[in-house]
Amino acid sequence: MKKKVLLMGASGSGKTSMRSMIFSNNPASLTSRLGATIDVEQNHVRFLGDLILNLWDCGGQDAFMDSYLTTQRSTIFSHVGVMIYVFDVEMREPEMSKDLDYYQECLGSLAQFSKDASVFLLVHKMDLVREGERAAILLKKTKELEKESRDVSVKVFGTSIYDETLYKAWSNIVNTLIPNAQNLSKHLRKFADACSATEVILFERTTFLVIATSSNPDSSDSFPPDTVATHALDPKRYERTSELIKAFKQSCSRLREEFHSLEMELSEFTAVLDEMTKNTYVLVVVHNPIVETAAIKMNIRMARRKFE
Ligand code: GTP
Repeated sequence: MKKKVLLMGASGSGKTSMRSMIFSNNPASLTSRLGATIDVEQNHVRFLGDLILNLWDCGGQDAFMDSYLTTQRSTIFSHVGVMIYVFDVEMREPEMSKDLDYYQECLGSLAQFSKDASVFLLVHKMDLVREGERAAILLKKTKELEKESRDVSVKVFGTSIYDETLYKAWSNIVNTLIPNAQNLSKHLRKFADACSATEVILFERTTFLVIATSSNPDSSDSFPPDTVATHALDPKRYERTSELIKAFKQSCSRLREEFHSLEMELSEFTAVLDEMTKNTYVLVVVHNPIVETAAIKMNIRMARRKFE
């Protein structure tokens, strides 16, 4: 099953940087060496089993944008599953107005050729905004962009390649493309129950994006509900884990070692990160002190067949 993802936005807004970090495991420090994308760079990423992401990184220079919206219009905007439009938070007038015009034309083209596509807007390079002002600026930008999107429903995220926000946004994006995400969560809940785990999280193997968790998405941080009071769970834990593990994997590869699994036994909790299937890793977090690490690992081994 192939899902087309359009990555669009002005030149220099950071599209290729985020793609190279998420899908090619490049560190943020190397992104400044990336040249401008010429026309469209297409990539196929096998994401989960038979789900293939067909990523179209569309160079943002005006000449290319004009061509996408005229001669290449039906090629670019047909069969789109998700369009991600990246806005540089630092962009000022008159470039901003021009960028918004392009964005609206992209929305119009999507309405014509892929009317069911989801639209994600990334207010990117948030690291350039002073920390205390980020929330207010993001809220203001979100309102502006929602207004510019008229009756199209959009999801807006503030992102930066220098922190975990990038992983949060991209996990949300790919989640809309995974056909059985709800089902996976249900199985993870059963598995968490069987392990007496506070939480179980499933990650995609190469990107380390979160595919599903055992927590109930309706209640903020809560599986099982009574554990929340005793073990306050950090709302940023998913994207922080993606970011940290990716950095750790990069360190391993610099030492020419391959990353396989990770175990942590702390006084408060035990965590095991191990391969679940060919394309996934699972993280099991247990606060119950009587549960042995070996038992968690055995449970993961036993559950593998179910998740293949
Ligand atoms: P085109 O290929 O011309 O469409 O540009 P692009 O959108 O692909 O931009 P690219 O990824 O090449 O990034 C341009 C510059 O922005 C690079 O120097 C990156 O290092 C920088 N950049 C990307 N993301 C961030 C970010 O989150 N914060 C900051 N401060 N800089 C970033």
